[in-house]
Amino acid sequence: MRKKIVAGNWKMNQNKAEAVSFIEALVKEDKPQDVQMMIAPSYVMLDACKQAATDELVIASQNISQHDKGAYTGEVSADMLKSIGVKTAIIGHSERRSIFGETHEILAEKVKQAINNSIQVVFCVGESLEEREAEKAESTVKSQLEDSLFFLSEIEMKNVIIAYEPVWAIGTGKTASPEQAQEMHAFIRSLIVDKYNQHVADATSILYGGSVKPSNAKELFAQPDVDGGLVGGASLKVDSFVELLHSFK
Ligand code: 13P
Repeated sequence: MRKKIVAGNWKMNQNKAEAVSFIEALVKEDKPQDVQMMIAPSYVMLDACKQAATDELVIASQNISQHDKGAYTGEVSADMLKSIGVKTAIIGHSERRSIFGETHEILAEKVKQAINNSIQVVFCVGESLEEREAEKAESTVKSQLEDSLFFLSEIEMKNVIIAYEPVWAIGTGKTASPEQAQEMHAFIRSLIVDKYNQHVADATSILYGGSVKPSNAKELFAQPDVDGGLVGGASLKVDSFVELLHSFK
């Protein structure tokens, strides 16, 4: 069956001393064996975090270039990530979409680039507040998946984790209710059944993101189709990250 996962997306937080001391403290903590831990620091901290981490902790990048190599100032390639042992990348975070203009086409190229280089993808989807209020939440998420992810083959989908992050819940303190999260996660799983099959749908972890914290994680993670969280703010302190790891039944 699919994995339970708690992934910390540090965004543009934690300098080197903070990042490394977090990882060193985390590896010493008592943690549940059946929950996959993941931390996505900034690019410049990846190597140091990787060196401080043990095998039980996945160190992921927050982004990846869609290009192999060449004149792309400021970009980081799949080959560069692999050369420091990073094998997972977040793709399509709403901040990348809205602030940095990453389109469906660019995201599809990034997914292709990652998968072709055996890099696991954490693919983010989620609707804005206007889209939810206009009852377009499901159609938005459906087209995000269809336009940038569902070209993958059944075998390639084994290397994909999906994160549902409603934009209105990110960094706002406003969490989707457990029912809202479950409804969208079940919808996403049904889309995977329609596009692929039940086996692929059952094997794909779908994480919820958007103001997840120790006080709401238990209820969210208890939903049958919520397989864990992609967490921003509450992943920056070891104590709260460890509490999240212990928030599964
Ligand atoms: P917050 O947990 O800070 O709302 O951020 C969520 C997120 O964007 C994780 O990718």
